[in-house]
Amino acid sequence: PSPRVVFSGIQPTGVPHLGNYLGALREWVKLQDEAEPGTKLIFSIVDLHALTVPQEAAQLRRWRKEAFATLLAVGLDPKRSTIFYQSEVPAHAELMWILSTVASMGYLSRMTQWKSKLQLPEDTTLEQADARAQLRLGLFSYPVLQAADILVHRATHVPVGEDQRQHLEFSRYTANSFNHLYGPIFPIPEAQISPAKRVMSLKEPTSKMSKSHPDPKSRILLTDSPSTIHKKIKVALTDSQPLITYDPAHRPGVSNLLEILSHFENRSCEEIAGEFEGASLRVLKEHVAARISAHLEAVRDRYEEVMGDRTGYLESVAREGAERAGGNARETMRMVRDVMGL
Ligand code: ADP
Ligand code: NA
Repeated sequence: PSPRVVFSGIQPTGVPHLGNYLGALREWVKLQDEAEPGTKLIFSIVDLHALTVPQEAAQLRRWRKEAFATLLAVGLDPKRSTIFYQSEVPAHAELMWILSTVASMGYLSRMTQWKSKLQLPEDTTLEQADARAQLRLGLFSYPVLQAADILVHRATHVPVGEDQRQHLEFSRYTANSFNHLYGPIFPIPEAQISPAKRVMSLKEPTSKMSKSHPDPKSRILLTDSPSTIHKKIKVALTDSQPLITYDPAHRPGVSNLLEILSHFENRSCEEIAGEFEGASLRVLKEHVAARISAHLEAVRDRYEEVMGDRTGYLESVAREGAERAGGNARETMRMVRDVMGL
């Protein structure tokens, strides 16, 4: 049986938030800590993906480093996990070209992310998008790069949040298309969707917590201080019904808080709602803020330590990660070139 290869990535677009943590990073650490010997664990700061929208160089440089430091801070151990910047392993971009020769335009045009990033309605056609918002090729073909990220490591398992399910399906489809044409090079990767499927925005609890939401109070950053966490939870949008109940369809704000709690306390939302039923919203919010703060304390301390380090620790981890990931990717590219006649 072929060994398990776990791959996932995160964009360097600011310090990761609680949704990234519960939907992805915490699962990565769990996989690392529970991995059978022989499992390969590969995690990337996908900086090439960040370029699908305009970036300012100094800010991107800072964000890359912050994202890297966060992966170390949440508990990824470079001795067990390979952690690297995507742009330092050129095979990712090279395989993207190869895959783009088999990837379906029709499939890409039906995907939703390029439309939502341009804030266009879901039924927008390619021509309309280009006329209205100057759709760039990179934003449109982003899922092909994501497929390359996964396939260049011949990953078998991809731990992600629910919002990535559609992209994973595209990667599987593209891997199959390639294998069908050239031979069975790529394992068909399996999505491992986190139990925390979608952590919702604190300000707009019907949409997911996201780095791109304009209001910074809509998300908790992993480096927020206890007082900042407290303030953000205090002003989180809820409703004015008297009792605490778990009802995501009608009470998305309160339900989101209960869901966040349930991920930290390992019990169901209903059970927590039962315990807090007669309590005021203020009491519930204080409990949520305290839980998050306590859990993130160690992450924050470790983050400060890594960012404050003057011995080049992060840079040396990144260098080693790129070497290991690069070796792995080059092996795949040898096989790919061989079956294609290159
Ligand atoms: P963002 O969507 O905030 O830009 P990324 O695209 O870099 O974040 O996603 C990194 C990981 O975090 C992915 O696995 C994604 O599924 C997960 N993720 C992002 N936002 C959320 C959320 N609100 N709830 C759960 N998981 C999320
Ligand atoms: Na995302």
